[in-house]
Amino acid sequence: MFRLQSILVIIILLVLSTSVNIFLVLSYTANKTSNDLKTVAEFEKTLCSRKNINKEKKWKEQRCPPQGFVTVNSSARLGNQMWQYISVWGVAKRTGLDAYIPRCNREILSNAFDSLTVPTLDEISHCMVNVREFAKSLEEWNNNKQGIMIKSNAFLAEVALKWVEDVRKQFTFREHLVKKSQDILRTVVKDNTDKVFVGVHVRRTDYSRYLPRKYKLKLANVSFYYSAMKYYEDKYKNVVFILTSDDNKWCIKQFSDKSNVFVVGEHFRNSPYLDLAVLAACNHSIFDYGTYGGWSAILAGGETIFYKIKGALPERVAKLLPNWHTFR
Ligand SMILES: *[C@@H]1O[C@H](CO)[C@@H](O)[C@H](O)[C@H]1NC(C)=O
Ligand SMILES: *[C@@H]1O[C@H](CO)[C@@H](O)[C@H](O)[C@H]1NC(C)=O
Ligand SMILES: *[C@@H]1O[C@H](CO)[C@@H](O)[C@H](O)[C@H]1NC(C)=O
Repeated sequence: MFRLQSILVIIILLVLSTSVNIFLVLSYTANKTSNDLKTVAEFEKTLCSRKNINKEKKWKEQRCPPQGFVTVNSSARLGNQMWQYISVWGVAKRTGLDAYIPRCNREILSNAFDSLTVPTLDEISHCMVNVREFAKSLEEWNNNKQGIMIKSNAFLAEVALKWVEDVRKQFTFREHLVKKSQDILRTVVKDNTDKVFVGVHVRRTDYSRYLPRKYKLKLANVSFYYSAMKYYEDKYKNVVFILTSDDNKWCIKQFSDKSNVFVVGEHFRNSPYLDLAVLAACNHSIFDYGTYGGWSAILAGGETIFYKIKGALPERVAKLLPNWHTFR
């Protein structure tokens, strides 16, 4: 009798623990699938590091993209955000998929540009997506009703810059920035002589920590800028260097003895958007590193000298754009 009882107890315990296990497993899988399947409105929140995106505009319900769509995980500042946008644009052009960018990306870019054609995710906010089904790159994409989620640091230059003229059209500056940047250039040219404008971007602040960490390099010293400037001075008669920087103090000091260097921040209240418009209005470019300086040169569309860093993005761009080069 005693044995039978203990066997029964054991059986009951076994049954209980198995069912608890089954219950746990079931609820876990249920949770997992419900986490993967999201509305685009929920999905968009995971793509934006900045949480305070504007309230949704009410769109007439759009049809949901039948083939999946291209989008991007958005972060960092203007230069990176431009790569994120143009990577989505380029991959959509290459694959034929629809493209949508998160609103946090559009909000930054709209400060500078007004001809962006890629719509924002809130236009399809009611659609359902399975987060796990996105390919993480063009190479991973199976070409079969699958979307692509581009990583925030993918910077797909090889895809987008094939259409570099169209890229420049996407990044058409707002009228007030065009006007202001032309005013600035006209201020520099006091006489009526024809000048060759070379835009120079000097990036320092955050790169003094980033360069040693990522490339074991120090900031470019002043001799890089001087020799790049000399290259243009030898090539053209009337060159003026239009310089913008995140460290105006350093630039004013370093270039004070060069009468053909104009540090924009010394004379004008500027912003990253205006600085970019000014650099893009120049004929040729010098920049050291960073996506922001890189974009200023791509948009200017002239000859470009950059600081040599093995394996960095400008090296890749130089393989795609014929007039980009470096020296050291
Ligand atoms: C986007 O990037 C952030 C930060 O790196 C990450 O937390 C988030 O999960 C990413 N979103 C997706 C959908 O992968
Ligand atoms: C500047 O840096 C270069 C290497 O990039 C180095 O050869 C040169 O000696 C440096 N010049 C000065 C003045 O520190
Ligand atoms: C050089 O840039 C200035 C200022 O934007 C512009 O007016 C001029 O037409 C450009 N010159 C050439 C040869 O493109």
